[in-house]
Amino acid sequence: MKILVTGGAGFIGSAVVRLAVSRGHEVVNLDALTYAACLENVAPVADSPLYAFEQADIRDPEALTAIFTRHKPDAVMHLAAESHVDRSIDGPGAFIETNVMGTYNMLQAARSFWEGEGRPESFRFHHISTDEVYGTLGPTGQFTEETPYAPNSPYSASKAGSDHLVRAWHETYGLPVVLTNCSNNYGPYHFPEKLIPVVILNALAGKPLPIYGDGSNVRDWLYV
Ligand SMILES: NC(=O)c1ccc[n+]([C@@H]2O[C@H](COP(=O)([O-])OP(=O)(O)OC[C@H]3O[C@@H](n4cnc5c(N)ncnc54)[C@H](O)[C@@H]3O)[C@@H](O)[C@H]2O)c1
Repeated sequence: MKILVTGGAGFIGSAVVRLAVSRGHEVVNLDALTYAACLENVAPVADSPLYAFEQADIRDPEALTAIFTRHKPDAVMHLAAESHVDRSIDGPGAFIETNVMGTYNMLQAARSFWEGEGRPESFRFHHISTDEVYGTLGPTGQFTEETPYAPNSPYSASKAGSDHLVRAWHETYGLPVVLTNCSNNYGPYHFPEKLIPVVILNALAGKPLPIYGDGSNVRDWLYV
């Protein structure tokens, strides 16, 4: 397949890019290269004939249309987002622009391309979202697809908004979509500000380990 991966220079997107290329798929990596990006993350596949890079911003609809027309993907995996929850508290505007408006632009570009190709049934628009759209669990319990949305941060609210757009583009226009809500990822190439790298790096340097609140927060870690 030819997969258009957005946010492929980020943490999870780059893992997707490396895995897809290693399995023989063609990958187009669409990324604006924000502070969260690191092209080193895709260095292992950068020279592969299966790999192409497009520096573009999902807030720019014309750039997206041109990329769909140029590459004609079989599927989209949409990971590009403002993803750092702490930053969404200091500056929520960028989260609305990229996560809500950017996803809208991606849906419109994908829909226009898919309709132009005769609405192929095999096409997929996979939107990567977060379990944070479901809010907070107590000490026990679990989320399911039936859990009501209850986002608490500007980040999770912007992701929840984008999820609703993805659902609506399926219900209204028939766009074949997949929507996933994974929990916290960890693993190779993790951004050094994030909890697990911070704890490891501080521990190696003999520095104190930072704790948020009273340290009783629970996370469900998923290997990237
Ligand atoms: N990291 C996690 O634990 C986690 C958990 C659940 C869901 N998610 C979701 O998975 C996706 C990827 O997360 P991540 O941790 O790899 O994020 P990340 O911040 O490491 O990477 C995001 C990538 O998107 C790019 N990007 C940001 N704004 C852009 C824009 N306007 N146009 C084009 N590219 C842009 C960045 O340059 C970066 O390369 C996100 O949608 C996030 O909401 C992440």
